[in-house]
Amino acid sequence: MAAATLILHFISFLSHHYLVVTTLFLSLIPMLIHSSTLDSDIEVLRTVKHSVDSTSISSDSFLDTWDFRVDPCQSTGRHFLGVLCSFPLDNSPSRIIAIDLDDVGYDGFLTPSIGNLTELTTLNLSKNKFRRTIPESISNLTKLTKLSLSDNCLAGTIPTEITLLKNLEYLDISGNTLSGSIPINISRLRNLSYLHMARNALTGTIPDLTGLWQLETLDLSFNQLYGNLPYFPLRLTTLSLNDNILTGHISPVNMLSNLSRLDLSHNLFSGIIGKEILSFPRLVYLNVSNNQFNAIEAANFSMEERQLQFLDAENNNLHGLLPVNLTTIQNLTAINLARNEFAGPIPREFGNKIEQSWRILYLDNNFLSGDLPPEFITHSKRISGSLANNCLKSCPVHIKLCRGGQRPASECIR
Ligand SMILES: *[C@@H]1O[C@H](CO)[C@@H](O)[C@H](O)[C@H]1NC(C)=O
Ligand SMILES: *[C@@H]1O[C@H](CO)[C@@H](O)[C@H](O)[C@H]1NC(C)=O
Ligand SMILES: *[C@@H]1O[C@H](CO)[C@@H](O)[C@H](O)[C@H]1NC(C)=O
Ligand SMILES: *[C@@H]1O[C@H](CO)[C@@H](O)[C@H](O)[C@H]1NC(C)=O
Ligand SMILES: *[C@@H]1O[C@H](CO)[C@@H](O)[C@H](O)[C@H]1NC(C)=O
Ligand SMILES: *[C@@H]1O[C@H](CO)[C@@H](O)[C@H](O)[C@H]1NC(C)=O
Ligand SMILES: *[C@@H]1O[C@H](CO)[C@@H](O)[C@H](O)[C@H]1NC(C)=O
Ligand SMILES: *[C@@H]1O[C@H](CO)[C@@H](O)[C@H](O)[C@H]1NC(C)=O
Ligand SMILES: *[C@@H]1O[C@H](CO)[C@@H](O)[C@H](O)[C@H]1NC(C)=O
Ligand SMILES: *[C@@H]1O[C@H](CO)[C@@H](O)[C@H](O)[C@H]1NC(C)=O
Repeated sequence: MAAATLILHFISFLSHHYLVVTTLFLSLIPMLIHSSTLDSDIEVLRTVKHSVDSTSISSDSFLDTWDFRVDPCQSTGRHFLGVLCSFPLDNSPSRIIAIDLDDVGYDGFLTPSIGNLTELTTLNLSKNKFRRTIPESISNLTKLTKLSLSDNCLAGTIPTEITLLKNLEYLDISGNTLSGSIPINISRLRNLSYLHMARNALTGTIPDLTGLWQLETLDLSFNQLYGNLPYFPLRLTTLSLNDNILTGHISPVNMLSNLSRLDLSHNLFSGIIGKEILSFPRLVYLNVSNNQFNAIEAANFSMEERQLQFLDAENNNLHGLLPVNLTTIQNLTAINLARNEFAGPIPREFGNKIEQSWRILYLDNNFLSGDLPPEFITHSKRISGSLANNCLKSCPVHIKLCRGGQRPASECIR
């Protein structure tokens, strides 16, 4: 209000001399009065900036433009980059509704006073060097819909208070050094559609997530999560659980028929990769490599369209004959079944696919025997991969696929 009064005096002084200028200024007055920022919000922005090492605030970065000689919400686009304000229609002060910083390596910590920005809907500090813990006061930001703190240096546990942010739709805390377990009550965040916690040091089991019925993307990869799988929300389209120490059967995944991408690689899963999974109509990418699965089931899809392009089941305990029904998946181009215990001949149909659409085929380190289908020789240049270390009768080493040779006969008596 003091600022507004000052402006009025200035204008009445001018009006003795310049009538035109006076009217111009007067028309601006209502806007100037009602758009100034709430003092305590300005105070928080100041603290946010002061919590970042000034040597990491490069010139022309967003934080560098935060010049507190002007009002954040009245600044003209050259100051306070990365900040959005509300402009209430009544005469109440403007509030900060978004902080969306650039990724220039700000080195600092997230001030607990952030909890005073109670109108904030977006907070994005990703790809910087924010350290220390996520402050508990974050629970006061109940209007947040988007929270991204990914790729920083945040440590400590995920505060359970985060489960109070009931309007969150997007939560990304991946790429930090967070430890402890996933808050057991995370399912309270009913509006979440995107949950990304990959590349941390999270332990414990995956809590029940079925309450997150809006969830479409879940990425918990590269942590130290263990135990059996819980049930997941049915709307999921992307599920990445790779590089953990998860165990048991994967039957909870069998119901997720909307998946387009499923990565379970590098865990300790066992049992069967059920026929439901290859039958998901939108599945494009399936990686079950580096587990202890002992079978993969595939139906005949010659009458139905399937999207699957990448299948990686390397390094499991898959045994029996090669799954010939894979040749009925129209879009499939890259197959890795290496380092398993498949035995018997390479099906004739595999030869047809090499002539047609398969481009990557790894079958090495199994116990395949018999003759190669002729297309493996006539069309060998079309494909990359390996047949090495099997029990094949003739795999001419001038063919790239055959480089590395076959197993000694002693390993082939089974
Ligand atoms: C945040 O709010 C608390 C309690 O209302 C107050 O004590 C504190 O000074 C505020 N911090 C900032 C930076 O405004
Ligand atoms: C968050 O900010 C980073 C860095 O500026 C940007 O790459 C990313 O797209 C933003 N994320 C969201 C969800 O807006
Ligand atoms: C958060 O809200 C609580 C209760 O509404 C209040 O006591 C506390 O001061 C707030 N903290 C911050 C940092 O705003
Ligand atoms: C969730 O989203 C719906 C629809 O967008 C909205 O009406 C609701 O207020 C949001 N928040 C909660 C807590 O459900
Ligand atoms: C989880 O939520 C339930 C009720 O919804 C509550 O009783 C329990 O204390 C909460 N647990 C934690 C760890 O927040
Ligand atoms: C699967 O996706 C479709 C299309 O995006 C959607 O209409 C349907 O509701 C989804 N299924 C589930 C169980 O969410
Ligand atoms: C599958 O996951 C493994 C890690 O376990 C990775 O090395 C491999 O590249 C992935 N396969 C594909 C096709 O992306
Ligand atoms: C191939 O698919 C058919 C029909 O879906 C099924 O009956 C058969 O058992 C499958 N073959 C193998 C080897 O799994
Ligand atoms: C699968 O193949 C069909 C027909 O060739 C094509 O229309 C479709 O886009 C492909 N799907 C993907 C995911 O590439
Ligand atoms: C799949 O079914 C079709 C039609 O029933 C049949 O012609 C084809 O040989 C089957 N493919 C395999 C690999 O069994």
